[in-house]
This record gives sequence, C-alpha cells and structure tokens, in this order.
Amino acid sequence: MFLRASSASLRLSSWLGRRDRPKTDPRRLIPAIVGVIGGCVLFYLFALPQLIKFRFRSGLSWYDLGLYGFGPSQGYFSFDEESPVVEISPSGAQCDPRYTFLAPRGDSVAHPGPMILDAHGGLVWMKYNWGTTQDFRVQQYKGQDYVTFWQGDEEDGHGRGSWYMVGPILRFSRPRRRLIIDILWQLDSTYTTKFIVSPVGALDGDLHEFHITVNDTALVTIYEPIPADLTSVGGPELGWLYEGVFQEIDISTGQLLFEWRSSQFFSPNSSYEPLDDRGYERTRGYDYFHMNSVDKNDQGHYLVSGRHTHSVTCIDGSTGELLWTLGGKDNEFSDASNGAATQFEWQHDARWHGPNQITLFNNAANGDYDLNKTSYGALIELDIPARRATLRTSYNHPQELMATSQGNLQVLDTGNVLVGWGHSAAYTEFSHKGDVLCDVHFGASAYYSFGRIVSYRVYKGSWLGTPNTLPDAAIAGDSVFVSWNGATEVASWQLEAWDGIGLENMTFAMTDRVDRTGFETEIPLPPDITSYFRVCAVNADGDILGTTDILKRSSQSSRRNFLTIHWGVLLIAIFASGCLVGGLYCAVHRHSRRRRSDANGPYQLIAHKDDDENDTEHARLPI
Ligand SMILES: *[C@@H]1O[C@H](CO)[C@@H](O)[C@H](O)[C@H]1NC(C)=O
Ligand SMILES: *[C@@H]1O[C@H](CO)[C@@H](O)[C@H](O)[C@H]1NC(C)=O
Ligand SMILES: *[C@@H]1O[C@H](CO)[C@@H](O)[C@H](O)[C@H]1NC(C)=O
Ligand SMILES: *[C@@H]1O[C@H](CO)[C@@H](O)[C@H](O)[C@H]1NC(C)=O
Repeated sequence: MFLRASSASLRLSSWLGRRDRPKTDPRRLIPAIVGVIGGCVLFYLFALPQLIKFRFRSGLSWYDLGLYGFGPSQGYFSFDEESPVVEISPSGAQCDPRYTFLAPRGDSVAHPGPMILDAHGGLVWMKYNWGTTQDFRVQQYKGQDYVTFWQGDEEDGHGRGSWYMVGPILRFSRPRRRLIIDILWQLDSTYTTKFIVSPVGALDGDLHEFHITVNDTALVTIYEPIPADLTSVGGPELGWLYEGVFQEIDISTGQLLFEWRSSQFFSPNSSYEPLDDRGYERTRGYDYFHMNSVDKNDQGHYLVSGRHTHSVTCIDGSTGELLWTLGGKDNEFSDASNGAATQFEWQHDARWHGPNQITLFNNAANGDYDLNKTSYGALIELDIPARRATLRTSYNHPQELMATSQGNLQVLDTGNVLVGWGHSAAYTEFSHKGDVLCDVHFGASAYYSFGRIVSYRVYKGSWLGTPNTLPDAAIAGDSVFVSWNGATEVASWQLEAWDGIGLENMTFAMTDRVDRTGFETEIPLPPDITSYFRVCAVNADGDILGTTDILKRSSQSSRRNFLTIHWGVLLIAIFASGCLVGGLYCAVHRHSRRRRSDANGPYQLIAHKDDDENDTEHARLPI
C-alpha cells in the first residue's frame, strides 16, 4: 500500500515536470503547523468579526454590493463639493415629491455636512462642515420655515455645541475651506443665521434633539456629568454619570420654561448599558440614560426616550412627575403584542401621535454583539388607564437592516411614514399600513454594519431657498456648467452673449435658454460666442433670479485643468502598471528559465540520462 502510494506520487510529480525530493523530515512540519494555527487564530480574532458583519444577501444590486464604492459620490465642474449618488428602489418608485434633509457623515463621506436632496436624490443644497452637524431638518417658527441643525463637537456619544436656525430665506454663502472658528464667524456675518440657541445655564447643547413646539418654544437635550453612587451597577461609590437633562426654552426671549433631570427618577441600575471602565472620571461618566428625543403633546405632557434604559417616559408638564413608563426595567404596561410593543431596545425618536399613540424607531441592535437583530419603526397604541400597549404597525426594511445606532421616524402629513435608518445609510417611505413605497440608499448596503456613511436622522419637508450668492459657473471644453447651491426656484438657465460694443456698460443679449437638468446644468456654447458671456437663472415665471459673474470663452479651454490632473493620474497608473508587468515578466521569465534549465538544459540532459541522484541534486540547487 505504502509503496504504491509513493510510486503514484512519484509518477504524479514527474508528470508535473518535477523531480522527486528526498523524504521530508517530520520536524520540518512543526513550523508549518504552528504557522497554520497562528493564521487560524488571527483569522478568528480579526477577520471573522469583520466578515460576519458583511450583510451580503441574494438580490443585492451592484450599488448595494459596493461596485461604485461604500458611499458613491459625484463631483461637479462649477461646485467644489461632492454629493452622494443615491439608489432608489423599486425602480419608478413614487417618493414624496418634497425635499429630503439629512446630514451624512463617516469615513466614506467626501464632504460631511447638512444637505438637502430632491425626491430623485439630486443635490439641492449642501454645506461642508468641519464640526459635526446633526438633526438637520426644516421646522416652523412663528409661521415661517427655518432649517435647523445642531453643530459642534461630538464626544463620548453626545454633543457639545449649539442649535442653529437659518432662514426664513436660505442665505448661505459658499463655504470656504478654513478653520471652524472662521465658519462660525461667517455664520454670524455672511450667513443669515436668525437664531443660535444654547441651553440655559453653563451647559453644552447636545446633538440629539432640537424640537420646536407649536408654541414656538424649543425642546433641547443636555448631557451633564454629575457625581453619583454607582455601587448598584458595580461601580464606585463616588462616581460620575451623565445625567439626561432636557429644557424647554422660549426662543424669542431665551427664557427657561421647564427643566427635567433623569437622575431624580431613574437610578443607575435601570440601565442596560454595561458600566465597563466608565464612571470614574468626570469626562468618562457612565452614560446610563442616554436621552435622545423629547416631544410634547397638546395636553402639555412631555415624552422622553432613554436609549440606555430601553424606555419611553411621559412627564407631567407642570409638575415634572413621571406619569408612566413604557419599556425597560421600569415598564408599567402589559403587552398585547407578545412583547413587540414594550420590549424595544436602544430605541430613538419617540413621538406623540394624538393622546394615545406614539411612534419610535426600535434599533433592537446596539454595537457588534446583537448581529442578528433587525431594526424597525413602530406605531404603538396605548391604553393608558389600563396600562396596556399594542403594536399597531411595524415599518420594516425589505433588507432587514440592523441600525446599531441613530435613526428616526417621521409621520408625514400625507399619512405616509418616513424611516431614517441612522447607522445604515438609507431612508424608506412607507404607506401608513407599512408597505414600502420608496427605498433610498446613499451607501452600499452590504457594508452598513461598518458605519462608513451614516446620518443621525432623515426628514422630508417643503423648502424655498433663494441664496444671496451668485450662481456658479465653470467653462469646460465647449460647454459652460452652471449651478446655484441652495436655489430651489430655478427652472431654466439663460445664456447671454456680449454684444461686442464697448467694455464700459457692457450689454448682453440672450442667445439660448436651457431647462435646468439637475443641481448642475451643462449648456453647450454656440460657436458665435467667442469672448464674454454670462448665464442667468430664470424661474418658472420667466423672472431672472440671479446672474453669474461675466465669463470669457478662450481658445485655451479650462478643461485642460481637468486633463492635467487626469494626465497625472494616468502617468502614475501607467508607471505602476509598467512596474507590475515588468516585475511579473521577470518573475515568470526567471521561473521558466529555471524550468528550461531544469528540464532541457544541456547539463541536465546529460545528468538525466546518467544518474537520477545527481539530477535531484541539480533540481534542488536553485531553490
Ligand atoms: C436598583 O438599586 C436599588 C438600590 O440602590 C434597588 O432598591 C432596586 O431594586 C434596584 N433596581 C433594579 C431594577 O435592580
Ligand atoms: C401650548 O400652549 C398652550 C397654552 O399655554 C398649552 O395648553 C399647550 O399645552 C401648549 N402646547 C405645547 C405643545 O407646548
Ligand atoms: C439570533 O437570534 C435568535 C433568536 O432570534 C437567538 O436565539 C440566537 O441566539 C441569536 N444568535 C446570535 C448569534 O445572536
Ligand atoms: C456708463 O453708465 C454710467 C452710469 O450708468 C454713465 O455715467 C456713463 O456715462 C456710461 N458710459 C458709457 C460709455 O456709456
């Protein structure tokens, strides 16, 4: 048996064109075995946790598989920043025609900041931000629309910043690449920031909530480190925790109307958040409550979501007392839906819908340790006197997304429901009954677990933007490209050529009018435009809204700029390819030369005939 096997292997190796080698010393296998074990351990420790985070599933589009990148984006000729390229499904889906407000950020986002997209995912307005921007949306204050957002520094899961109200007319000048301090200064001078709201007292404004009520007051969240006894969760007796605080502030006067603090009602052990090594320092407090939304209803009752207590709490607007708690360790409700109405976990964005209904976004998952949980939006009906909760509708993503953080749910005035999937770069519009109407991805879904592109919340709403900047234009080849960041009323672009009579008080005559095709419109330059021209933005009524700077067509087109960059890249690519091909050629050539000299070289031929032992020696030489 043994003999036959070895002669078979001998035949096989000579068939492969190799010479037989002397028997391997078993001791030489030890390093190989150790190596294999090491490789397996490394694979298990580092590669496997990453691999199981991939969410490949059948039927993913090229976009979702990442063919165009984790967060595909597009650039423009006339505009410096890059905006996301979205994929909308099913094809031909009827999304709500209004604008989408989001603030993408993450390692795969070229230019993070607040952003308005149209219903087809095309860019309308964006602002590139160095600080973090969150909770970007349109809200009404004293009957007028404002875009509002939080801006500041994110640290330790909460924010240190302020809330900005911009409008009613969008007057953002083109952002410049400078320091944050400059941007804030610009916000005061050039941008018409109508209000910068900060919490009352020496506190930092947190990123999670800035909600304007029907009474023109603001509900805001604050994370405040306070000394606390953490022995009930195995922590120090003289420790620190982050208290969840919310304030109601009169926006016009800055007066504090109401304040509520979580530590007076929730003890540290009502949390599901592991203590780990936290709670010993003021700057690394135990984030036991993690307040992430506040709402108020017509009865004057507040609704507060505590992510780390898995609970939603109703608070009396005059006394601050708890009226009831749904979910978590302090849950008071029986569940008529087998746990689906009360056993939400790590949730976000709890809102009132009438006196007996609330919505929330149930993340279900939190971090890497809940990998098979599925997030969903929930509409929950409450029988408050009987303390009974029923899940009326759940809003599930067709790809069963797992949003390990962030997310929101907005009930649109049409009755449809918009869910922003937070940590997963997607937003989905549902019918009230929970059918998917329109699903938009702004990142490849196979990699959502890695959080390379996220948006804390996503909203839809109407918006009228008339920037006080000039429209932007850039000549490339025989076309001019025009855009106007934030302008919502442009219907077409009018090309006007200089009449050639005198450089003082230049007059221009219309030569062409082109319908707006998206954020940026390309207008081919007719041959009779040989020098100065300009482009005017025209609204649907034919009124001119704004005009670009005067442009000049020159024989040296500015496309050369792009070409130089591309030539540079091309040269590097050619050089690298040359190196690669050369290296491969050398390797293959050496190998084949070796084989030729092994098999066909004149010296080997002689050895071949003469002595097998000798031949083996020769064959081993080059190794
Ligand atoms: C939390 O700790 C307190 C004592 O500090 C104890 O009375 C209470 O039962 C604990 N609650 C839970 C949910 O463990
Ligand atoms: C608005 O103010 C009225 C009158 O003070 C009050 O009854 C109502 O509860 C308030 N609503 C909200 C959402 O603050
Ligand atoms: C996945 O979920 C099921 C129940 O839905 C649970 O029994 C199982 O332990 C979970 N697996 C992991 C790896 O979390
Ligand atoms: C240009 O216009 C200014 C005022 O509009 C006028 O004073 C000046 O005379 C004009 N120049 C020419 C060459 O028409």
